[in-house]
Amino acid sequence: MDASSASAPLYITTPIYYVNAAPHIGHAYTSIACDAACRFAKLDGTEAKLVTGTDEHGQKVEESAASQGCEPLEFATQVSGTFRDLAESYAVDYDRFIRTTEPEHALAVEKLWRQLGSSIYLGTYEGWYCVRDECYYAENELVDGKAPTGAEVEWRAKEPSYFFKLSEYREILVDLYESDKVQILPVSRKNEVLSFLKNNLTDLSISRTTFDWGVRVPDDPDHVVYVWIDALTNYLTALGWPDDPDWETWWAGSTHVVGKDILRFHAVYWPAILVAAGLPPPSKIVAHGWWTKDGQKISKSLGNVVDPNDLLDTYGLDASRYFMLSEVPFGKDGDFSDRELLAAANGYLANAVGNLAQRICTMLFKHEDGLTPENDYDEEAENLIEMARALPDAMRPLVLEDFRFDLALLQVEEVVRAANRYFDSMAPWNLKKTDTDKMVRVLAASLEVLRCVAIAYQPFMPTASKKLLDQILVPDDQRSFECIRSAAIVPGLKLSKPQPVFPRVELSTESESSGDNKKSKKNAAASNKKVSSSR
Ligand code: MSP
Repeated sequence: MDASSASAPLYITTPIYYVNAAPHIGHAYTSIACDAACRFAKLDGTEAKLVTGTDEHGQKVEESAASQGCEPLEFATQVSGTFRDLAESYAVDYDRFIRTTEPEHALAVEKLWRQLGSSIYLGTYEGWYCVRDECYYAENELVDGKAPTGAEVEWRAKEPSYFFKLSEYREILVDLYESDKVQILPVSRKNEVLSFLKNNLTDLSISRTTFDWGVRVPDDPDHVVYVWIDALTNYLTALGWPDDPDWETWWAGSTHVVGKDILRFHAVYWPAILVAAGLPPPSKIVAHGWWTKDGQKISKSLGNVVDPNDLLDTYGLDASRYFMLSEVPFGKDGDFSDRELLAAANGYLANAVGNLAQRICTMLFKHEDGLTPENDYDEEAENLIEMARALPDAMRPLVLEDFRFDLALLQVEEVVRAANRYFDSMAPWNLKKTDTDKMVRVLAASLEVLRCVAIAYQPFMPTASKKLLDQILVPDDQRSFECIRSAAIVPGLKLSKPQPVFPRVELSTESESSGDNKKSKKNAAASNKKVSSSR
């Protein structure tokens, strides 16, 4: 590994997704968030690695495969492919897509199991089992006879099971979180975990004998390893643990990004297991909230599932990513609405960013023979240029420490809004008649700000920012964050005829004819006004 990187390498992971359901907006969201953080780190000079993948074992998968008349592996391979496709269509630039059915993963699970040694014992289990959640619940955890998640439970009588001595790790876990040796974000979630840890922990059942589809327990093939132990181990397998000598360097920067519903698995079970196995706990766990649709929980039974592929068809990649990352403070629940997405796409991206780019490039194209100007800026733009060049410093802690993509994007938005105000107040189209030198200096300053904005947007909107950087002829090797200060527009290059980078989204006639979207469009127009005046 290159020892000269700015800071310790980042190893960022998405949860691995169950293959018993189709991808939805929640899956896309976690992956985009991890991708944005990982791209940010790389552009900022920090080595970074992103791992995503699929969780393919367990009773649910076994049953789903049987209901389709196929083998579990065949079924898992087919659904896993849809998650891989989703990552690719959302431009999630992963370094490794891991599947828990890979032979290499089974070896890592077995190795970890053996390393747990005397922290594991054989006992019997009796209790309420929930197939959907793949776990047992205590009587007092049930709500109206169902799991706390609302799923059905069934009584399982005296099954043999291996247990992990979780109860012995309570103090260790409390210390990890109170001392921030392991960081949980947002702080409200850390407090939630600490308050859970106030109660005694019961030992964790970590094997099953009622189905076959999983990794066999070493030396006791009647048992398969509990799907969560199997799944969590993916974070080690993906680093080539235990054989790859680099695994520990990456592990020091391990950051698990998860939904709030699976925080307990990551913040209680996983660090305890790692410590028991003599391995270091992860360094950071970040929990995000859930998406609702028009204020309602998203569920198949309500028929309001948001298909992430439909979003791409309607709004395109960059607007969809931008919306998800800017709309909610990471950690909070977010509400999906077409109206707000349309407002982001048209009211901000097309009207504010796209239009600024178009106006600058069109004037250069028409009045300066399409040549990029000398870096001789209008002095009234000094503050604006400094604000644009300070973007990486302003954004870095927000993205890499706090995961507040919304606030980081707001920093860029403020620069864009200031640049539009500057451009309007300088009215270079009038200067053309009165002071062409000043006009060129105004265009040069505006173009320089646009260059900084386009570089800063790369982690969030990789396709649109690439188009913009290509359009204003920023060389490929001058697109890192460092180049915001160390480079500038290359003068004397010939621009092509400017093309809109953020085309306005027009809803199709078909969607317009639906009552819902009619409403969306009307509200979007209203909201656009709100966006341009108040955002
Ligand atoms: N397989 C486990 C994870 C194992 S990680 C070692 C799993 N898979 S999942 O496919 O059910 O869920 C994956 C992620 O999607 C979770 O982080 C979950 O919080 C997230 N979401 C599920 N529904 C969601 C929303 N409506 N909104 C946002 N995220 C949501 O759990």
